[in-house]
Amino acid sequence: MLCIGYMIQIYGLYYKEGGYILTKKVLAVSLALLMSLLNMGTFTNVEAREKEVLPVEENVQYTPPQEETPAEEASAEEVPAEAVEVTYEEQEVNKRVIDPTKPMVALTFDDGPSKYTAEILKVLKENNSVATFFVLGSEVNKYKDVLNQVIAEGNEIGNHSYNHKNLKTITDEELYKQVQGTDDLVYIASGYTPKVMRPPYGISDAELNKKINKPIVKWSIDTLDWKNRDTDKVVAAVLNDVKDGDIVLMHDLYDSTAQAAKIIIPKLVEQGYQLVTVSEMSEYRDVTLTQGQQYYSMYK
Ligand code: NI
Repeated sequence: MLCIGYMIQIYGLYYKEGGYILTKKVLAVSLALLMSLLNMGTFTNVEAREKEVLPVEENVQYTPPQEETPAEEASAEEVPAEAVEVTYEEQEVNKRVIDPTKPMVALTFDDGPSKYTAEILKVLKENNSVATFFVLGSEVNKYKDVLNQVIAEGNEIGNHSYNHKNLKTITDEELYKQVQGTDDLVYIASGYTPKVMRPPYGISDAELNKKINKPIVKWSIDTLDWKNRDTDKVVAAVLNDVKDGDIVLMHDLYDSTAQAAKIIIPKLVEQGYQLVTVSEMSEYRDVTLTQGQQYYSMYK
């Protein structure tokens, strides 16, 4: 706009005046025009610079969002943390809450793992219950997956020797292999080390218990399931005698026992018993499981 103004001025002067004055005025105006063009150019450059600066300023202005971005990342980090919390809460939901004031019973299953163990695990899980499985070292590798499932579902694994020999009749060296060998097999298969031991046939004395060097767990209710192989008799043996603090002997080696477990477990839960592991019961009954000592029950 300024240029057009000067052009009109130049032409105006051209018509009104002539000669030397005109030339002087034209030169002066041209100079002014040139200056203004340069200024405009300068302004343009400034604007350009400002435009160049602007993105920088925008970048600066973006800096807070960029600073917020780590905050967003932090909150993004909180999301998995929350997810972990949710998982934890889910685990909490599944986790059994043991009330020490309420009655509890420790069901124990010997001589497995076997092809029936999974059926017993299923009914335990369905009833939010656990038990203790005294396993034979000789069966561990055959039922490695079941063994791991037993552990994963919160049950306890006890040592029941390698191959069910009467431990009173063997040498100390053989005894060590029967007990330590079974611990090793369980550990290799699962990463779990049995804490408690039950000698085969429940045969042991103070001297043998000392040599075994683990807490020895016997029982207060014997279902004789190995002998009767009768579901009804096994069910009756438990339900007719059960009381708070009992340790019940069964074997996850028979179909009749697995069928009995399907009746016994929900029934005991219905009657208000908490089905716990031997170690849990010792904890809630303030019984210190001591190496070389034996336990038949944990009554109040
Ligand atoms: Ni046995």
